[in-house]
Amino acid sequence: MLGEAVIGAAQEVLPTMVDLRRRLHRHPELGLDLPYTQSQVLETIENLGLRIEVGKGLSSVIADLDTGRPGPTILLRGDMDALPMPEDTGLEFASEVENRMHACGHDAHTAMLAGAAHVLAGLRETLSGRIRFMFQPGEEGSGGAAIMVEQDALDGVDAAFALHVAPNVPDGIFGWKQGPALASADEFEIIVTGRGGHASTPHWAADPTPAAAEIVLALQAMVTRQIDVFDPAIVTVTMLQGGTVNNVIPEHVKLGGTIRAVSERTRHAVWENMRRTVDGVVAAHGLSAEVVIHQGYPVTVNNPEFARWAASVADTTFGLGHTYEMTSPLMGAEDFSYVLQKVPGAMFFLGACPPENPNPFDAPSCHSNRMMLHEGSMATGTALHVAVAVSYLNAGGDLNAPIG
Ligand code: NI
Repeated sequence: MLGEAVIGAAQEVLPTMVDLRRRLHRHPELGLDLPYTQSQVLETIENLGLRIEVGKGLSSVIADLDTGRPGPTILLRGDMDALPMPEDTGLEFASEVENRMHACGHDAHTAMLAGAAHVLAGLRETLSGRIRFMFQPGEEGSGGAAIMVEQDALDGVDAAFALHVAPNVPDGIFGWKQGPALASADEFEIIVTGRGGHASTPHWAADPTPAAAEIVLALQAMVTRQIDVFDPAIVTVTMLQGGTVNNVIPEHVKLGGTIRAVSERTRHAVWENMRRTVDGVVAAHGLSAEVVIHQGYPVTVNNPEFARWAASVADTTFGLGHTYEMTSPLMGAEDFSYVLQKVPGAMFFLGACPPENPNPFDAPSCHSNRMMLHEGSMATGTALHVAVAVSYLNAGGDLNAPIG
């Protein structure tokens, strides 16, 4: 079952998805603890005959559709958490919780996954193998995916697929990419230490401020001179703090910022180069420095073969012209990366621009306080979830087998 049949089945569950999505949108929850969201998911997928397991210490849900017949296992993932920010969309179902908003579309991801569970449960008798639905909390910085992986979410899983909405891509169009699709994101802190003193007698002190300024510039030169432009990194110093009053040389100056890269090779090179650059600058001035790198999410790497295969599934389902291969990764980060480190798979982007926007590129993007998406696109996303799962099981997990 592909093509029109899948699209039609996804359309049929759209009202259920819109209803769930709006409930979640009204009551956004943050981080790893999403009791309301979890309860709404469990309510929506009860009576589908799924084997349900909830997480320990986090509000995750693993729901297995086991056909009882031998075959591969594919995992479909939807993240469920919101952001700590105000909502200014004016929507009738806007957030009712102050300073919380589903501004990254995870409410829609959750609804699409629940919708896919409904459609696939109806196809159970025609399938062989297992489909695992991974409802994940804590994508926005808490690393919920890594915790779920530790709690055996990938046991017996052969491949994994996820969708992320893109409100400034035309409605119903899928963006995809082979290899790196999203960046790693690490944070750093640098503390430059000298000796405090009177502003009038810097020679009796050891002033950390000029060295800190040199570090800001030296890090930019390091990136452009030492990192391959075709395997890029972004180092951004976003904080520079020191001193309390005009006539005092402080003992410390602190710098902070982020490092992004699209390969682990470049990511590690930046860590090493940053330490060497900072040590060199402070040594030149007779100061000392401490560099602390807080590792964030790794690079999200789509398995090239799986990504090409899933794009073919999309073409088979929707007809040509509904997919585009992205020429570059996005510099945002995503904890689905932890899943893709363990099993082959891909994350695709689903265009969800509201049709009233004449130019999608002007539409408020994810993480905007005015972000809105076209709810009809959820049926398109669910149709692809279903088509990927059905095709994978029908092929026995062989990506070279004919799609159908
Ligand atoms: Ni997101």
